[in-house]
Amino acid sequence: MNSLCVLVVEDCESDASLILRILTKAGYAVLSARVETEAEFRAELTHRDWDLILSDYSLPGFSADAALNILRQSARDIPFIIISHNIGEEAAVAMMKSGAHDYVMKASMSRLVPAVEREIRDAATRKDRRRFSIALKESEARWNFALEGSGYGVWDWNIAEAKVIYSSCWLSMHGYQCIDMLGNFEHHKSLIHPDDINQVELAWDECITHRATRYRAEFRSKDHDGGWRWVLNRGMVVERGLDGKASRIISTHADISLQKKNEQLLVELNGDLERKICERTAELSAALDHLAESKKLAALGVLVTGIAHELNTPLGNIVLGISTLSDELETLSDQLDRGAISRGGLRSQLVQWRENAQMALRNSSRAADLIDRFKQIAVDQVSHAKRVVNLGEIIESCIDATLNLRSSVEIKCETEIDQSIQLMSAGHLEQVISAVLMNAMQHAFQGRTSGIVEVKAMRVDSEIFISIGDNGIGIKSDFCQRVFDPFFTTKLGQGSMGLGLTIAHNLVTGILKGTIGIANRQSGGVLVKIKFPCDPLNVIEDIY
Ligand SMILES: Nc1ncnc2c1ncn2[C@@H]1O[C@H](COP(=O)(O)OP(=O)(O)OP(=O)(O)O)[C@@H](O)[C@H]1O
Ligand SMILES: [Mg+2]
Repeated sequence: MNSLCVLVVEDCESDASLILRILTKAGYAVLSARVETEAEFRAELTHRDWDLILSDYSLPGFSADAALNILRQSARDIPFIIISHNIGEEAAVAMMKSGAHDYVMKASMSRLVPAVEREIRDAATRKDRRRFSIALKESEARWNFALEGSGYGVWDWNIAEAKVIYSSCWLSMHGYQCIDMLGNFEHHKSLIHPDDINQVELAWDECITHRATRYRAEFRSKDHDGGWRWVLNRGMVVERGLDGKASRIISTHADISLQKKNEQLLVELNGDLERKICERTAELSAALDHLAESKKLAALGVLVTGIAHELNTPLGNIVLGISTLSDELETLSDQLDRGAISRGGLRSQLVQWRENAQMALRNSSRAADLIDRFKQIAVDQVSHAKRVVNLGEIIESCIDATLNLRSSVEIKCETEIDQSIQLMSAGHLEQVISAVLMNAMQHAFQGRTSGIVEVKAMRVDSEIFISIGDNGIGIKSDFCQRVFDPFFTTKLGQGSMGLGLTIAHNLVTGILKGTIGIANRQSGGVLVKIKFPCDPLNVIEDIY
């Protein structure tokens, strides 16, 4: 049962009761009040939220017209129906014009309930509309507040009419007044930078014809003073026509000129940095080239001086021996001419000459030996005859040939060798291993009676690793960098020339295409690491 609050303006109590009975019979739970004067009407009007006012046309001290006036002034929207015995048509029309919603003659009260039902319904509709419009206004106000507050300029594009409306924030962002803007779309387009317009039109087109709902574009937009301002434009389709094309788009402009300026600055800085790095790299590589050149010249100088020094002694001895021999032969020839030499004298001369000749011979072979080693410094790339060898066997034979030479130090050799590695070798690897083992023997254990040498060899993927370590005295840290230099030796004048590691280095890098390194071990002693690729020329797979 619907409840109904009815304010009845009626001087006749029985008429009022009849009206209420009719309404109750129609199914309403009626709550009512009856008033006869203006004062009572005013009081009741504010006292309750009435759903309906039913008013007699004329009362002794009041009237429907006066009541309607008061209702209008109160700004309340309450259905107002006149119920009267004697209202003429003219008066009824006038009352309707003044705001009355309907009138019912007391003679035809059957119209009352339909009139009430309709007016209640219409009032409810009006109330909903009012509520909706208030909510809409509030929501619009909130959005405006949010958009304007965030600094976004808003523009509203009516595509069908080619009209554009701008928010105050949009105008102030670009320095315009309302009157500056023509409000048509062509003018709006003319504010976009000619270089950017194509991409913006593409974005618009996507939205208008291809049913994209949003777009995003960055472009330069013209300010009132003629300058260009970078903006981020985000737009959204808010209406589409029956053909599916967008008919209205609302967009925001965010000022990104500072961000663009910083981006530009960053690009310039990066360019600057790149240019500086290029310049520095060129300077550095020129300096390195220069250094390498100087080093090469210095090394050549050392090499030449070293060779001259080493050869000087045997050659000097040879010259001395032969010139002495030559002088003495002259003397002998003279003595023979004069018959001044005895048999005994000749014999002692012969002993002297033999010694001189042997000395010249010894020094000649020493010079030949030296020249042989010098030749090894310049690695001979021409391949010597290669043969298949087992890496383990090569290492064992090198160990036998070197470490067992010396008797004053007892050297224990520990090996860990992958015996399956087969190589094609022309003897270069043997030379390298021997040079390193010789060093261990000659330099590592000075002043000691025993020592350990460890040799390991293995294959990992496509490379062979050989390490030779000792637990000897190690190398002075200053010397570590120089041990591969030609003629660097700490045993000058004791039979060492400082060529062993130079030749080993040249063989490993030049022939075996690998690397060799030497370092002191933390536990004491020296560790030499050799690595070279399993070139098909070097390694034989599945030989057996
Ligand atoms: N295992 C080692 N322990 C200590 N010092 C070493 C060792 N191996 C090399 N050295 C140092 O490196 C220097 C250079 O070695 P390198 O083999 O080139 O020349 P050398 O042995 O002195 O002379 P050469 O090998 O020509 O007879 C040596 O003089 C030595 O000081
Ligand atoms: Mg050596």
